[in-house]
Amino acid sequence: MEGKVVIFNHPLMHHKLSIIRDENTGTKDFRETVSEIGMLMAYEATRDFPVVECVTKTPVSVAKTYKISKPVVIVPILRAGLGMVEGIQTLIPTAKVGHVGLYRNEETLEPCEYYMKFPTCIKDSLVIVVDPMLATGGSVCHAVNLVKKTGAKEIIYVGLVGAPEGLARVQREHPDINIYLAALDEKLNDKGYIVPGLGDCGDRLFGTK
Ligand code: PRP
Ligand code: URA
Repeated sequence: MEGKVVIFNHPLMHHKLSIIRDENTGTKDFRETVSEIGMLMAYEATRDFPVVECVTKTPVSVAKTYKISKPVVIVPILRAGLGMVEGIQTLIPTAKVGHVGLYRNEETLEPCEYYMKFPTCIKDSLVIVVDPMLATGGSVCHAVNLVKKTGAKEIIYVGLVGAPEGLARVQREHPDINIYLAALDEKLNDKGYIVPGLGDCGDRLFGTK
């Protein structure tokens, strides 16, 4: 089935985006707000997750109830993806976490892989690939390839700010996955940064510049 693209349009999301885009926002507020956005996005991004019908005994009677039918695995792309994990886990506390370590080659902008570790259950899980920034799309495409190699089939991508170039690349290379973004920006600049964007997300999350 063809994946869908959802760009969030909600007052809370707009408000929180205005905080993280602001160059004067410091590490603490930036980190906390990214996490809050992750939590809000998780609510909507999990809307199509499959459920299984159950029968639950209440103190009064029995109720027809529904539970998410498979384990959930969150896969942040290091480093910046880590910033959204806690927020998503607030809503899905039983989710397991896999990690993909990538950095962009400054010249080619292609991702270089330095780490990968997935939970053993990933093949039969609902996988949420997380990276706040979708610039050229190289990192997300690479991470989704790694997840697909495990045999996992139900994969979504959740990010904060995307560029049209990156969105088009993920749609082209992975037309089967749903894409959820808090905002779709104008373009990339000549250094591969999203315009207007929010700068270097990893540096702002971890205070490395
Ligand atoms: C940033 C960002 C994404 C990637 C997006 O990571 O966190 O992973 O760039 O760019 P792309 O869509 O062009 O691949 P970076 O390489 O700066 O590593 P870091 O998170 O460790 O700082
Ligand atoms: N990575 C970032 O952190 N920011 C961008 O704008 C592009 C890639």
